[in-house]
Amino acid sequence: MSRNGTARTSTGGFIQQIKLDPASDTGRYPFTLPVVRHLTRRRELDLHPQVTFLVGDNGTGKSTLIEAAAVAAGFNAEGGTQSFRFATRASESSLGDHLIMRWGIRKPRTGFFLRAESFYNVATEIERLEVGHAYGGVPLHERSHGESFLDVMTHRFGPDGLYVLDEPEAALSVRGCLALITRIGDLTRQGCQFLIATHSPILLAVPGAQILQIDSDGEIDEVTYDEAEPVALTRGFLAQPEGFLRHLLEE
Ligand SMILES: Nc1ncnc2c1ncn2[C@@H]1O[C@H](COP(=O)(O)OP(=O)(O)O)[C@@H](O)[C@H]1O
Ligand SMILES: [Mg+2]
Repeated sequence: MSRNGTARTSTGGFIQQIKLDPASDTGRYPFTLPVVRHLTRRRELDLHPQVTFLVGDNGTGKSTLIEAAAVAAGFNAEGGTQSFRFATRASESSLGDHLIMRWGIRKPRTGFFLRAESFYNVATEIERLEVGHAYGGVPLHERSHGESFLDVMTHRFGPDGLYVLDEPEAALSVRGCLALITRIGDLTRQGCQFLIATHSPILLAVPGAQILQIDSDGEIDEVTYDEAEPVALTRGFLAQPEGFLRHLLEE
């Protein structure tokens, strides 16, 4: 059972487990990050068969881990489908080459790696490949950032897919986040698996999801929705914004 009470099935999910080859440490980034050190020591990280969230403060290494998992699963480091091969930067960490993934019996039929940071480049590649019809038909550069994200999730995400998302809420309104929760619910019922890095207390409410939290020492722990920092902090702030700010500004 997960902390949220969902029964785990041993057959569900495409990626069941991630671990890091202990011999891979180069002594440079990303192996110097506390979370990567922690992962090197830890035996493995189990993923939920449907939805696993990764939370943690800025700089704790969520994008580094998410990118590594996406690369190890065969995605382009800057995002897109498994057939995207463009590269606009050379800074991708080599962590993906050292991740050992344990796959389940089922293989994904489709998938997408969506990262807020380089989504513009993915939209450019979609136009270059002239595959815009699969994304709703309107060129993604002619849509707002949030609209283009929702186009991809609505039109390009499909059944039996593996979806790796890095801060999908970056472009989304509260309503957009709620629409994404609905879409995730539909897709998990159609055999999809999601791995999502997020700061959104709304998105984290996906029923039954596993939430893995990276702390400042790089430890990764499973937490409940109420324990997750984005939820606890936002809740505290919204309950008493003036008191919260007074405390902060006096510090
Ligand atoms: N290419 C890189 N070279 C060296 N350090 C990097 C590189 N990319 C990220 N970092 C550092 O690694 C840390 C974690 O980054 P990142 O994974 O993007 O964090 P998060 O997504 O959790 O905010 C940051 O402190 C960042 O400065
Ligand atoms: Mg990040």
